[in-house]
Amino acid sequence: MKGSTSTSTSKMPVRLRLGTLAAVSAVLLGACAKVAPQTTFEPQGPIARQINDLINPVFIVAGIVFVLVQGLVVFAVIRYRDRGQPEPEQIHGSTRLEIAWTLVPALILLAIAVPTIKTIFDLSQTPSEDALAVTVVGRQYWWEYQYEESGVVSANELVIPAGRAVALTLKSDDVIHSYWIPALAGKTDVIPGRVNRMTIEADAPGEFPGQCTEFCGTSHANMRNRAISLSAGDFDDWIAGQKRDAPAPLADTPAAEGLATFSSRGCGGCHTVGGVSDAKIGPNLTHLASRSTFAGAIFENNAENLTTWLKDPEAAKPGNKMIIPGAPLKPDEIEKLIAYLETLK
Ligand code: CUA
Repeated sequence: MKGSTSTSTSKMPVRLRLGTLAAVSAVLLGACAKVAPQTTFEPQGPIARQINDLINPVFIVAGIVFVLVQGLVVFAVIRYRDRGQPEPEQIHGSTRLEIAWTLVPALILLAIAVPTIKTIFDLSQTPSEDALAVTVVGRQYWWEYQYEESGVVSANELVIPAGRAVALTLKSDDVIHSYWIPALAGKTDVIPGRVNRMTIEADAPGEFPGQCTEFCGTSHANMRNRAISLSAGDFDDWIAGQKRDAPAPLADTPAAEGLATFSSRGCGGCHTVGGVSDAKIGPNLTHLASRSTFAGAIFENNAENLTTWLKDPEAAKPGNKMIIPGAPLKPDEIEKLIAYLETLK
């Protein structure tokens, strides 16, 4: 037994040692990303800041406890390791020590519990009356947004006014999802048959990426999301624009042929285009061209990506519910449809 640990370490093949070093470095360096738009440690609104202000002190306390405990363990392992010495005298129980190590952790937990409980209660408060009310519906694999006051329906990109609380009502149409925009708030599960609520708020205009954080099927990883905060004036303009029906394309243009294709291929059986169709299975497309992304915010909204998508939605995003009735779309149909979709500003 004597010295067995050091012998086995020195016998570790160089390749294995390098491999271990590489694996450990990869894990550690993984935490050093320079561009991390989904970090929770750079809050961009009062709700996320409140959560961050709780995480930091708790993390510091946990860090101190970790270093202390692990340090003592390592010290004891090295200092008192078996060198063939006789077994030390066995003792049992020290009332003073027992009281100390029961009391100290209890006091630490109590100190952490006070701000934790306060934050939990603060965050679950009903937002003020002038908060913007939006219902969020989770679907495999995209998000629908219903603006309660204006009746506007949009998808994937949650447009909000900066500096104003937004009261989200979270619902699911199929399975459990979880709504999360790390820079603006914590995550909340979105559960079928149940209504959950959360408040989010952005300090200033900007874009904040998010991600579904509950495994919900094949394309869970492709169920992204984005909040876009605008100044109050820009937000009012956006709402006004979204309230309008889709503009009718000019006669004898590719867009007009695209609208005819939209109708003949049955796109309106699933999608709403204001003034053209009224179905609620797929995302509302009335103002698709005003969004910067589509299909769960995984694609930039441009003609190239729309072509890829319309050619074979299943290959572009496995497990999604987009069904093209009959045969796949022909290249000229896709071209016309995109010409039409691009007019839906
Ligand atoms: Cu929706 Cu994961």
